[in-house]
This record gives sequence, C-alpha cells and structure tokens, in this order.
Amino acid sequence: MPPLKILFVSPEVEPFVKAGGLGDMVGALPKELAALGHDVRLVCPLYGSVKRIGAWEPVAGPLGVEVDSQTRWARTWRTTLPGTAVPVYFIEHDEYFARPEVYSGAGDNDLRFVFFARAALAVCEQVGWTPDVIHGHDWTTGLIPVWLNTTLRGTALGRVATVFTIHNLEHQGLSDKRVLPYARLPWSEFNAQSLESYGGVNMMKAGLVHATKLTTVSPTYAEEIRTAESGCGLDHVLRSRAPDLIGILNGVDTVSWDPATDPALPAHYSAADLRGKAACKAALQEELELESAPGVPLFGVVARLAPQKGLDLLAEALPLIMQRMRVQFALLGSGDGPTEAAFARAVRRFPGRVGAHLGFDAGLARLIQAGSDFFVMPSRSEPCGLTQLYAMRYGTAPIVRATGGLADTVWNYAPGAEAGTGFVFGDATALALYDTIGWAAATYYERPQELDALRRRAMAQDFSWGRSAARYAEVYRWAVEARTATVAPA
Ligand code: ADP
Ligand code: GLC
Repeated sequence: MPPLKILFVSPEVEPFVKAGGLGDMVGALPKELAALGHDVRLVCPLYGSVKRIGAWEPVAGPLGVEVDSQTRWARTWRTTLPGTAVPVYFIEHDEYFARPEVYSGAGDNDLRFVFFARAALAVCEQVGWTPDVIHGHDWTTGLIPVWLNTTLRGTALGRVATVFTIHNLEHQGLSDKRVLPYARLPWSEFNAQSLESYGGVNMMKAGLVHATKLTTVSPTYAEEIRTAESGCGLDHVLRSRAPDLIGILNGVDTVSWDPATDPALPAHYSAADLRGKAACKAALQEELELESAPGVPLFGVVARLAPQKGLDLLAEALPLIMQRMRVQFALLGSGDGPTEAAFARAVRRFPGRVGAHLGFDAGLARLIQAGSDFFVMPSRSEPCGLTQLYAMRYGTAPIVRATGGLADTVWNYAPGAEAGTGFVFGDATALALYDTIGWAAATYYERPQELDALRRRAMAQDFSWGRSAARYAEVYRWAVEARTATVAPA
C-alpha cells in the first residue's frame, strides 16, 4: 500500500507541551506511523510554556491566517519529534499563545483555537504540502472538517479526508456564536444538524458531524458514548454516525516509559530483575515524607483532579482506610478544590502515612508509577486512560473502576487462578473503592507470591503502539476512499 501524507493537528504534543494524555498520544502515535513509512507532520500552538527541545528554525515568510475581518499574521517554526525526522510546526502568535497555559482561563479559548485550526490549514499552503488526511484531536480542531466541507470545498484542501478523534467528550468547546463570523463560516451552518447547540457553536459537535471518519480511544468508550447516560448530550450525533466511528486503544510510548531506562528514577528494573523497584519505593517515601517502611503497601495516584477521575471518592474513603488499614498513600494531582483540600487534610491528619503534592510534576509522576505497589484510578468515566498502562509497565498493580478504556485494559485478579493484571470494581462509590483497596492490601500481606505473579503478568502485557498504529493507518485509508467517493476530483 502506498504511504499516506498525514497531518496531525493538536493542542498538545509531548514532549513539548502537555496537559494530559492527549499530549502523550499525539507525541507517540506519529512516530509509529512514520516507522510504517507514512509522511506524518504535526501542528501545535507555540504557548509560552512550550519546551524548545532540539533544533528549531523559522519557516520563511509570514503566515497569513484567514479569520476575523482582516487576515491575521503569525509565524511558523519547524522542529522535529525528538529522535525522529517527523516535522512539528509550531504557530507563533503572541496575542493568543504567548501565555503559558494550553487551555486558558481568560475566556478567549474559542478564538484562540479557531485561529489555531485555521492556521494549521494555512501551514499546508505555506510549506507547499497537501496532506491526504488531516487528523484532528478533540474540540480545538473541530472546525477543520467544516471549512473543508463548506468554504474550502473545491480547493485542493477541500478534497482532503478528515479523521477526528474524541479524547474526551466532556470538553466540547461550547462557544458564543461570535465564532462563526470570526471563522468566516456561513450562517447556514448555524443549525442543529451542523455545529449549533444551545444557541452557541459546539466545536466538538462540528467535528463529529463533519469529519469523514471518527475514532475514539477505546472500544468500550466508543460504545458508551452512544448512550444517553454517557453521551454528554451528543449521543444522538454519535448514534447517527455510528457506522463511521470506531474505538482504537491508545498505546504506551515504550521508549519514554521504560523502568529499565527512565532517567526520572533513582534505580532501574525490569520484569526479569525487579530489585530496583524497592529503591524507587524508598525514594518516593522520602520525597513525600512518608515513613520509610518497605513492607507497607504503598498506593499511588497521579491525575487531574476532575470529577471524571473519581478521586473525590478516594478523598471520602481515605479517613476510614487510614484508620483501619496499614497502608500508605502517595498523591499527585491538581484541579478540583474540595478534593485538593481533602488530600491536604489527610496529609495533616495522617503524617508519615499520606503524602501529597498538589500540582503538576512530570518527574514525580514517574517516581509514583515506579515506587508504588498499587495505582488507584476510580474513574467515573475514562475514555482510555494512560496512567493505568504506565502503572502496569512499571510493575504497579492498577486498581480501577470498570469503565471505558480501564475495562479494556485491566483484568481482574482472581485468587489462585493465575490470571488478572489488577483489581477491578464496578460501583462509583467510596464504599466499593474502600473494599477494593482493602482487598488489594490483604493480597499484599496474605498472598505476596500471587501479587508478585500479578505484577509480572501486568509487566508482560503489550501496550506498545504497533498494533493501534496499523489500525489508524486503516482508518486513514478508509477515510481517503470515502472522501474521494464524495468529492469531485480537481
Ligand atoms: P487524562 O488525559 O484524562 O488526564 P490519561 O491517563 O490519559 O488521563 O493521561 C494523563 C497524563 O497526564 C499522564 O501522562 C499522567 O502522567 C499525566 N499527569 C496527570 N496529572 C499529572 C500531574 N499532576 N503531574 C504530572 N503528570 C500528570
Ligand atoms: C483524555 C482522556 C483519557 C485518554 C486521553 C488520551 O484526556 O481523559 O482517558 O487516555 O485523552 O487519549
């Protein structure tokens, strides 16, 4: 099969900038696609916080972006994904992107990301490269398929196929209708069959309605979001597009996330020789001012503290867990105020047994993955989840609620059955989580050999990107065929 030209348009690209797993996914999948022979390139905004890793050069000439009443001017920088020849284009535009945050609190995310999405198309013209497929990620890129289907139809870009990936349906980019004239889109699109909802513009919906093909990041989530219960108000759209929607599991960047080489760890280990893991546990206990206790089970958390992640359930269960069980907790996260406050209270109330860092810290995230015995993820909803995959790769047993990608990647422990890669529960309640943490702690103390075998099974799972990258390549071809069949040739 001939190679494809694929443009990734994304608000986050690891290792330059990330707010969550979307950045991890977009930083990893293109490398695998390039290894399969495809010409993959990426576009991302140049936020003030972007790490300028590797060599950077400006693309000649200014970048004219056709938004608003007058062309806005920006600048394009070119670098590559580290260790590869995959080009990454960063869009410099100080008014929108000089600030450090990816998603800003200033109330102009709608204009910032419409500008970005339109700029990504302008970059194709600037560098003289027309992709076969544009792969957009979440709502910030949702208008791209709309332009290709409307104002750009009949141009070279108008023939390009689009694949739109849902990473998280909870964030839809619901914006004021000012977006429409700003994007230079016709008012005829402002209807419920296109991008309008609740009197505003819904950029996620725009992508879902207009993209050639849709994907999301796990098969179970692909099913869940078609139901009224989990469809975040867009289930009817997803049902109507069901023939064009598939779930493909995310993978792990196995070079970056490897306990045998991870530079963030004080000691290294592998399934063949787990000894370094104890040194990581000791270092984690020291870092978070926990008692040095090699024989006490340590439960780790690394997450955005959003309601989706269910960590309010842990906050609720924690006092009773600490009173009744001989365990320790290492918590890393920021977000939801009451959950942060509850974690801080637990640290004060159980000094030396609960440690927390309320912030974002990439190095500590890795130390928690390596140094913990268990990784707690009681998500109410989880499109895929990467942290449970990292935990398994680092020999740390995940404790998860059976939802979305967690249900697709973690197999429940059954005593004596030589099966299972973690501990799985069903109800989104503090009690169910309490019981499961108790079950895990009992396994640690009473059946250490079984836990050791579970750990090794988890480490032996193959979550590398290879298989999923081949599936994305199939989706791209499917999209190109479908687009060619509907759009007249030049
Ligand atoms: P989501 O994208 O919903 O946040 P994922 O599990 O897919 O969930 O990915 C989360 C990513 O963000 C992981 O790489 C995780 O290590 C990282 N992460 C989340 N919270 C923090 C934090 N407080 N500090 C450092 N890294 C974090
Ligand atoms: C979203 C989801 C998470 C998923 C990530 C990468 O942030 O919340 O479950 O792993 O995107 O696709």
